This record gives sequence, C-alpha cells and structure tokens, in this order.
Amino acid sequence: MNAAIRAVVRIGRDRGFEVFGVERGFAGLLGNDIRELVSRDVSGIIQRGGTFLGTARCPEFETESGRNQALDNMSARGIDSLVVIGGNGSQQGSHALSKAGFKVIGVASTIDNDLCGSDETIGVDTALNIALEAIDRLKVTASSHQRGLVVETMGRDCGYLALMAGITGGAEAVAVPERETSPEQIAELFTAAYRTGKKHALAVVAEGAKCNARTLTEYFGHADVGFQIRATILGHVQRGGTPTSWDRLLGTRLGAGAIEALTGGRAGCLVGLIDGKVRTTPLDEVAGRQKPLNLELLDLQAVLS
Ligand code: F6P
Repeated sequence: MNAAIRAVVRIGRDRGFEVFGVERGFAGLLGNDIRELVSRDVSGIIQRGGTFLGTARCPEFETESGRNQALDNMSARGIDSLVVIGGNGSQQGSHALSKAGFKVIGVASTIDNDLCGSDETIGVDTALNIALEAIDRLKVTASSHQRGLVVETMGRDCGYLALMAGITGGAEAVAVPERETSPEQIAELFTAAYRTGKKHALAVVAEGAKCNARTLTEYFGHADVGFQIRATILGHVQRGGTPTSWDRLLGTRLGAGAIEALTGGRAGCLVGLIDGKVRTTPLDEVAGRQKPLNLELLDLQAVLS
C-alpha cells in the first residue's frame, strides 16, 4: 500500500494536483485527520509493509450521516477527489461516496485477492510468500517428527491464499470455502500419505472454509491417520512482511493508474490489473461482489497432491 501512496503523491504532484493523505482510512476522513503530503513525506516507505498512513475498520462510514461528515470535511479543505486504496469493504465505501456524487477512484488492494476488477490485488503476493515461507519451515519439523500439518491461511470468505499456498507448498489437501471438503476426505489423504511412507502430510485450509483449523483440530482429536497432527493458524503474520518486488511494482502501477484516471476525467471506478495491464472497472461492477476462485487450479492441486 505504501508503494501505491507514494505513486499517488509523486505522480499526482507531477501532474499539478495538491495531494493530501488521510490517516486511518475512512476513520480519518470522519475525524478530519488529513494533511498535505509532498514528495519527501513518502521517502523511504516503498520497502515497508502496511500503510504509513494507518488504516481502520470504520462502521460509522457505513451510515449516510457518517459519509456526509466525511464529504463536509473534504469540501472544507477544497478536496474534490479521493483515491481509496483497499479491498472489498473500502470499495463499498468508495461506491457509496461515488453514488453521492463525489469523484472517487478505487485502487485494488487486499491480501484476500477477492476483488472483482483486478486479477491480482496489492498485498496478496507478499502474503502468499509469507505463508509459503512458514509452510516450508513447518515442513522441516513435521518431516523430522513424522507429523501431519494443518496450516490455516487468512482470506476471509475467499480461498485464494489457501489454494495458492497449497499448490506451491506441495500440500496433500486444500480446503476452501468455494468448494467444501470434509474432514473425512482430508483424513483419507493423510492416511494414504502415511501408508505410502511419506514423512509428513500437509493440509492448507482457508479461515473461511468449514473445514478450517479449528474443525480439523477437533476432528483429528479422535481420528487416527497415522501421523500426529499439529495445527498452525498463520493469521496476521501474513499481513506483516516486507513487500515483494511484485507488490511494490503493482502498488506503483496502480497508484499511477489512479492519477491517470483522474487526469483523464474518469471517476467512480476501480484501478486494477487485468491481463497484465492497468485497467479501470466501474465501481458498480466491483462493490459488494466477490471474484470467483479459479476452481481448475483446485483440480490441479488434487492431482498434484
Ligand atoms: O481482508 C483482509 C483480512 O486480513 C482477511 O483476510 C481477514 O479475515 C481479516 O482481514 C482480518 O481482519 P482484522 O485485521 O480486522 O482482524
């Protein structure tokens, strides 16, 4: 996200905009925590994870009166357009502001990669690589002890992170909300792995899957699959890493795309990456929808396991 902010500030100023940063997302828009940003303010941030402006969940912004307060605060400062860098919740807020007549450009950013209008969102590559590093480490100890591993990834209601981490981490089983798997199916795969003499078995499960770490821990408490089972919930660890080169580049390209969209007179759209190109999609087609998971990759994983 820092790469995207940096690009918005530097390219925006280059194109003649005065640029302001809002602290803590919509919460700062409501609380009037807004300050001008110049080029130097975004020095030394591209290699930092998260966002130097901070972020927050802001239920108040879901109300019309909350949004009106935000619009008043922006108008008092002469701010006439807004770039919102975020995922589904943020883009629903963008959509609401846009419907109220304000010029908004969304930038696709979430580790869940569940946003329509972008093949990949800022942060997912970093989160995936963190999950993968954790899996590689966990496999070392699991092999030494001949254990079965359950690793739970984030992703809210989307199985993208679990599926990709499962494929690239060499998992025996993957569980995602988009196509449910039962604990019995995972137990069968673990038992088969044990019988063929594998040193460990791995299930990568999405937090939003019914068959998540909690369900499997309970199930494996009274099911013998040969391996002893250990479960790890990766949780917020996935959100804390140094951004990969891909994410820095994506953030930069999408941030730049937001300024290009504004200078081109566009608004009410999301800037994302489609077929390798920076493209805009109307917020009407983005807000409140979830990008479908490529289930062909789930079939591929099943064959590879
Ligand atoms: O949407 C990003 C995400 O990290 C999800 O993967 C996860 O379910 C959620 O946010 C966690 O939210 P919080 O940080 O508010 O606990």
